[in-house]
Amino acid sequence: MGDEDRLARLARGWDEAAAGYEAYYVPRFAPWVADAVAAVTAGPLPDGPVLVPCCGTFPELPVLAAGLPDRVVAGLDLSAGMVRLAAARASACPRATVEQGDASTLSERWTGRCAAVVSVFGLQQLPAPDAAIGSWAAALRPGGVLSVLFWPRYTEADGPFARLGEVVHGHVPAGDDGWQDRLVPALTAAGLVVERDERPAHPMSHPDAATFFDAHTRAGPGRPLATARGAAFVDRLRAEFLAASPPGVWSHRPNARHLVARRWD
Ligand SMILES: C[S@@+](CC[C@H](N)C(=O)[O-])C[C@H]1O[C@@H](n2cnc3c(N)ncnc32)[C@H](O)[C@@H]1O
Repeated sequence: MGDEDRLARLARGWDEAAAGYEAYYVPRFAPWVADAVAAVTAGPLPDGPVLVPCCGTFPELPVLAAGLPDRVVAGLDLSAGMVRLAAARASACPRATVEQGDASTLSERWTGRCAAVVSVFGLQQLPAPDAAIGSWAAALRPGGVLSVLFWPRYTEADGPFARLGEVVHGHVPAGDDGWQDRLVPALTAAGLVVERDERPAHPMSHPDAATFFDAHTRAGPGRPLATARGAAFVDRLRAEFLAASPPGVWSHRPNARHLVARRWD
């Protein structure tokens, strides 16, 4: 599959997932959004907007607007469906903008303009995340801060994320995750100083394994795969996953990875 096809499939998957993502995942991911935003609201920033690549439905916006009420906050996302919901959220904030576009390589109009770049759970979806984070770093002004939170290769020893990963990778080879080791070098090469490289974990709970599986494949990152491979494949995956899952409420504490870096000059 070519890059354009892959991007179009990803965008379509997120278009289809958008409303369900907002309902299921946004409340569950809120503690990580708070972590990412706190890293840029805690200290001084230079002038300029805050850019939010891969903003999805833009849950970062209310938290950013509360902490930085005078800033322009600009959301960017690939999916038209996500951008529609983000624009609805942004309509309550006069200083917010939202646009549809590929965040893999930012347009030059962002270069050296931003006070901060904040991104949550989008980086791991990009075709070359280490190149993308270098492009995000280039958007910062001197003194500007980058706060990027993403799902790393290891999120938990056991739990729904780990078990679903095992089931899926029984059918679909895991992608090359070597880019995760190249992020800090990419930031350093872009002239930033990495101030934090942490693994924030927060509790999350699902009513049961079936609800989690359905949310993942209908309203989450599994949607593009589910659409591409069809109902029979999803049914088989679902049966395998449920056979490997505990009954009842499923609580876990996955860890993300959080990088915070600053451009000093
Ligand atoms: C898991 S959602 C995260 C959304 C939001 N930041 C949050 O924390 O809820 C990932 C988002 O990344 C977006 N995305 C994936 N690839 C992208 C790309 N190449 N350019 C821009 N956005 C992209 C998807 O459309 C989706 O909205």
